[in-house]
Amino acid sequence: MKALAWHGKGDIRCETVPDPKIQHGRDAIIKVTACAICGSDLHIFNGVIPGMEKGDVLGHETMGEVVEVGPDNKALKVGDRVVVPFTISCGQCFFCRRGFYSGCERSNPDKEKAEKLWGHSPAGLFGYSHLLGGYAGGQAEYLRGPFADVGPIKVPEGLSDEQVLFLSDIFPTGYMAADFCNLEGGETVAIWGCGPVGQFAIRSAFMLGAERVIAIDTVPERLAMAATAGAITLNFRNEDIYDRIQELTAGRGADACIDAVGTEPDTRSGFDAVIDRVKVATFMGTDRPHVLRQAIHCCRNFGTVSIVGVYGGFLDKIPMGSAINRGLTFRMAQTPVQHYLPKLLARIEQGEIDPSFVTTHRASLEQGPELYKTFRDKQDGCIKVVLKP
Ligand SMILES: NC(=O)c1ccc[n+]([C@@H]2O[C@H](COP(=O)([O-])OP(=O)(O)OC[C@H]3O[C@@H](n4cnc5c(N)ncnc54)[C@H](O)[C@@H]3O)[C@@H](O)[C@H]2O)c1
Ligand SMILES: [Zn+2]
Ligand SMILES: [Zn+2]
Repeated sequence: MKALAWHGKGDIRCETVPDPKIQHGRDAIIKVTACAICGSDLHIFNGVIPGMEKGDVLGHETMGEVVEVGPDNKALKVGDRVVVPFTISCGQCFFCRRGFYSGCERSNPDKEKAEKLWGHSPAGLFGYSHLLGGYAGGQAEYLRGPFADVGPIKVPEGLSDEQVLFLSDIFPTGYMAADFCNLEGGETVAIWGCGPVGQFAIRSAFMLGAERVIAIDTVPERLAMAATAGAITLNFRNEDIYDRIQELTAGRGADACIDAVGTEPDTRSGFDAVIDRVKVATFMGTDRPHVLRQAIHCCRNFGTVSIVGVYGGFLDKIPMGSAINRGLTFRMAQTPVQHYLPKLLARIEQGEIDPSFVTTHRASLEQGPELYKTFRDKQDGCIKVVLKP
């Protein structure tokens, strides 16, 4: 089959790889009808995710048709149309039973490596390095879904691929970011990053009761898309974000601040962003937490900082003094996608949101390597790429 494989920093190729096969009784093989490129894939493309090996198949936002099921899988049958969560979860362990699917303790066969770095291992993920299971991803013609009686959700025929594809990751992730803010109605939520995740966080914050959303980025079409949803937009290249949030909140700070940027902020974001860049380039640091620092400073006393932008290792100069003295709450996670799936599918079915708004580019798998660049460089108005194998 054809698939997008990683061969090093900036080097992704569309190549022929062996077809996936059923390996365990609960597996299913999915013929991919649509898959997407995520901001998390850009961290791999940019070479900042450790544990990648040449030839690893990428992709964790995938949907398609079930073409084969293992003998122990009672949930799926050939012909079912499913969306596959990016998190691989057994459904039975301590964490899965509590809804913390991205903390599954059985789905990462490389758990010792993850434990060395992080103390404990999270769940395995599709197409996301040999730290997280080394599972082949879904930017391919076919995908093997492990524990496929727990992960994939069946979707009704009335909805198009693009309306449901983002249930695999960015819609639940943006929703979780807003959910973490414990909104009761009337709040001001500031969101850093108007990429695909930020876009869903903006809309979810409104759905969950925020009165105002302040959306921060610098890319004109992303800010415009945020404004369409009703957000007040700020451009960090033209205005001081802290000052503007102070102004908008009568000097109190935002009730909740969402980091939907993560470890690779624009180096033009500020002086500390440049220092971080140098430290990472010279192996003096692992991450570049400019946005997290700013989010902490802009959050009101006893407010919430919700982190969905991905970080990998050890973060320097995080203003914990500000956080503890002012009673901030931190929430963060790789999204336990399965936990959110049923209620978000219901919201789509009820017409509360049509996730296809975010797609700007549609292409074949062969065009994938080129579109990784277009998406990374934010060229051609690119906000979200959907590939159709
Ligand atoms: N927690 C999870 O489960 C999960 C799931 C999906 C994605 N993610 C992460 O979420 C993040 C965003 O993903 P995406 O797909 O939207 O990526 P993206 O790269 O398209 O978007 C990031 C946006 O941040 C903007 N940005 C850069 N510096 C900024 C700054 N200083 N202030 C404000 N905005 C700034 C960029 O211009 C860009 O529009 C990534 O780190 C990704 O890995 C996490
Ligand atoms: Zn993702
Ligand atoms: Zn589990």
